[in-house]
Amino acid sequence: MSETMKRTTSRRDFLKNTGRITVASAVAGAVVPRVYAAENNTIQLALIGCGGRGTGAAANALSVKNGPIKLVAMGDVFEHRLKSSHKNLAKGFAGQVDVPEDRKFIGFDAYQKAMDCLKPGDVAIFATPPAFRWVHFGYAIEKGLNVFMEKPVTVDGPTTRKMLELAEESVKKNLKVGVGLMIRHCRGRRELYDRIRAGEIGEIIAMRAYRMCGRACCKGPKPDNMSELLYQVQQFHGFLWGSGGMFSDFYIHQIDECSWMKDAWPVKAQALGSRHYRDNYVDQNLDTYAVEYTYPDGTKLFYDGRAMSGCHNEFASYAHGSKGAAIISTSSHAPGKVRIFKGHHFTIDELVWAFPQPEQSPYQLEWDDLIDAVRQDKPYNEAKRGAEASLVTSMGRMAAHTGQIITFDRMLNCEHEFAPEVDKLSMGSPAPLPAGPDGKYPVPLPGINKQREY
Ligand SMILES: NC(=O)c1ccc[n+]([C@@H]2O[C@H](COP(=O)([O-])OP(=O)(O)OC[C@H]3O[C@@H](n4cnc5c(N)ncnc54)[C@H](O)[C@@H]3O)[C@@H](O)[C@H]2O)c1
Repeated sequence: MSETMKRTTSRRDFLKNTGRITVASAVAGAVVPRVYAAENNTIQLALIGCGGRGTGAAANALSVKNGPIKLVAMGDVFEHRLKSSHKNLAKGFAGQVDVPEDRKFIGFDAYQKAMDCLKPGDVAIFATPPAFRWVHFGYAIEKGLNVFMEKPVTVDGPTTRKMLELAEESVKKNLKVGVGLMIRHCRGRRELYDRIRAGEIGEIIAMRAYRMCGRACCKGPKPDNMSELLYQVQQFHGFLWGSGGMFSDFYIHQIDECSWMKDAWPVKAQALGSRHYRDNYVDQNLDTYAVEYTYPDGTKLFYDGRAMSGCHNEFASYAHGSKGAAIISTSSHAPGKVRIFKGHHFTIDELVWAFPQPEQSPYQLEWDDLIDAVRQDKPYNEAKRGAEASLVTSMGRMAAHTGQIITFDRMLNCEHEFAPEVDKLSMGSPAPLPAGPDGKYPVPLPGINKQREY
């Protein structure tokens, strides 16, 4: 680890204002050489992590309409995932998928081989479990590649410090970096942000967000025909080292969108979390989470997460102001159907403004924006903001898992790295989290384990 990373880091070392990232990038963009697509104007893509979202992200990339773009390499740890992703993409994007057998790579080093097929200025897509993000991003920076990486981009304090350092390097190299917090690209949410800044709901006093749905992320025991490592990689939502668990992987979007509307990151979190039904599930997630986030001005975001069938379901985010209220997300992430109301009941007679429907998919817009920036050499780097969003999400998770108040600084400087050797994994490696003799894994014990989540 470099000296910069070892230094104790303070929240004040980073931009407080979530909207300022492009300014920093613009300054860097002015002094370093342009890095953009290959001379013949074709942008080449490599897909690393060929699962559901990776295949979706590649499809969005190939759908950008501002010039030639093609997929030339793919990498995964499971051959069957790569094969089915390739089949689907080749069918949907005939003529834009040029991935012969010798550019399909399997294994924990597949990321290097796939990126080696690109030229500086091309784009690497990272849609593996988040644990691998800093490893893959570091290699892309070395190779001068632009990047799209899925959220979360970190899962704990040490990987956030690494990611923040890499983010700085990528800005210095004028790389374009998109992070899959696609709501930031939703045009309705952008207009809502401007209207809130213009004072249409007054000062934000409190925000609420809910992701309460049926059973999710519960993982059964490892099958006999699979290594412990591959089982944990495949079931990454069940393991804190792989994904930050259900909390980080699912809740980051709404914690990020609310913090965007508030124009700040929370400074501390306190939280509750419980495990009610276990059946034969062995994963590390709790079933319910309730977090109170505090912003620098003392205002709060209350976040409720529940993965339990037979209960009230809601998947929405709200902001309450001194003059009215806003819906930030109506049901899931898209369409956002953002609206402003003059009261707090969200009734039609109090409706002041609604973003016109239908609205464009933010998953496509994030790619339109990234590729436009690559072609036009516009400043564009979301890595730091993505790391900060991942960190404040981990802050709420750690508060629930330890039963302690966790501040931004404490989370950032926390020394518990869930998978310190993740960059050295090979197919034969032991898994980062050993199972106990009963085949189960350590779970959070709030109030007993106060310094670590397990
Ligand atoms: N932005 C969104 O709304 C959204 C939606 C879904 C998923 N995601 C994110 O996308 C990422 C992937 O999620 P998913 O649902 O596609 O999971 P998935 O399991 O469908 O896909 C992950 C793929 O990565 C592969 N993989 C795992 N480790 C690897 C490694 N070290 N090298 C190469 N390949 C590896 C797996 O074999 C699998 O094919 C996660 O970070 C998730 O949070 C984002």
